[in-house]
Amino acid sequence: MKVDVLLGLQWGDEGKGKVVDVLTPKYDVVARFQGGPNAGHTLEFEGQKYVLRSIPSGIFQGDKVNIIGNGVVLDPALFKAEAEALEASGHPLKERLHISKKAHLILPTHRILDAAYEAAKGDAKVGTTGKGIGPTYTDKVSRNGVRVGDILHNFEQKYGAAKARHEQILKSLNYEYDLTELEKAWMEGIEYLKQFHFVDSEHEVNNYLKDGKSVLSEGAQGTMLDIDFGSYPFVTSSNTVCAGACTGLGVAPNRIGEVFGIFKAYCTRVGAGPFPTELFDETGDKMCTLGHEFGSVTGRKRRCGWIDLVALKYSVMINGVTKLIMMKSDVLDTFDTIKACVAYKVDGEEIDYFPYDITEGVEPVYAELPGWKTDMTKMQSEDEFPEEFNAYLTFLEEQLGVEIKIVSVGPDRAQTIERYTEE
Ligand code: GDP
Ligand code: IMO
Ligand code: MG
Repeated sequence: MKVDVLLGLQWGDEGKGKVVDVLTPKYDVVARFQGGPNAGHTLEFEGQKYVLRSIPSGIFQGDKVNIIGNGVVLDPALFKAEAEALEASGHPLKERLHISKKAHLILPTHRILDAAYEAAKGDAKVGTTGKGIGPTYTDKVSRNGVRVGDILHNFEQKYGAAKARHEQILKSLNYEYDLTELEKAWMEGIEYLKQFHFVDSEHEVNNYLKDGKSVLSEGAQGTMLDIDFGSYPFVTSSNTVCAGACTGLGVAPNRIGEVFGIFKAYCTRVGAGPFPTELFDETGDKMCTLGHEFGSVTGRKRRCGWIDLVALKYSVMINGVTKLIMMKSDVLDTFDTIKACVAYKVDGEEIDYFPYDITEGVEPVYAELPGWKTDMTKMQSEDEFPEEFNAYLTFLEEQLGVEIKIVSVGPDRAQTIERYTEE
């Protein structure tokens, strides 16, 4: 068997959580491969809404095994809060959730360092989620990290050494902070974590594949936030792209199967950084209002704009996307005209490839299509799609060279339509 990968093609919040939940019944195992509690994956079903940060979105569908892979960074305090809330709402996790011993721990001082580095950057700040993601991955790469497996071996000494190093850096930055509460909650999180299965997830995942079990790998963030291919330095600190599933789970490239690429029918971004198709007018406000575009982790207003096919084509290429999934189609239900950026104008010249730098001087060139002006939220099958909506889908498929297999018309699990079911 192979590992199918599901990931975001834009700047995050495409609706990954919702679709992982929808697809989970087709799989035996769901595994997260990167990121941490900077993620906020929202699921809605049976009148309930859940926001997951570190726990994979396959946790609500029966007794499927869910794995937090080695590429993930884990904050025990936030994990405890998230897991306890799920258990309290009738979703027991302990037997089903396995955590890689090689996943790195986000220390309380990592969170403080995140804030300190952002403060030091002033106007150039990234606008991080403040969850300590960058400093934790920095320690991983500089070989100073503390891992989940360390909880069981010489933990006090390893934690103490890392904390002392962080405190020295914070002193050099003249950054004032109070660790007491954060550290207390964190230590409680460490104790709580010990009830879970710490596993060698690379062995586990590969054994599942050998035994003919199917695995869905869930991405966090989006391709345009990838540390290598995103809009650097306004990115997160992990590889959000398909290759990240190989390193973040210990799966060989030839074991990757389908690559599901998710995008919104328009585009959003939260935090700082370039966004060529961003709208600053009432159209952008309308997208924000109708799409409820406020961050699920930080509550920040998401910046909104038209779909950017130059960036999307790049994402499709980098990830080797085999199937596209379009989300939040319903948000555009009342628009007279839909615009799609098909090229950038840079220094007076039109280009259709994603350039090295999009920070300045990139002007979007738009194609315009008629809106469908139909409420799609109750539709059950593609046979009900309005003609103009089908035309939008066909246009996108031609531009991107990949078929759109799933269309989402609302936040609920049930508002999901699979296309070309004859396959
Ligand atoms: P993720 O981080 O990629 O999992 O996405 P988020 O959960 O952060 O953001 C997506 C938001 O859009 C959530 O509030 C979802 O409930 C909501 N959502 C998902 N699909 C749709 C859809 O098709 N239509 C509408 N209106 N909302 C959707
Ligand atoms: P999901 O999985 C949207 C953004 C932050 C900031 C940058 C770096 O829900 O799609 P970080 O805290 O990672 O160092 O912040 O990345 N960012 C996200 N934006 N959705 C996310 O996750 C994000 N995770 C990080 O806003 O610009
Ligand atoms: Mg999100």
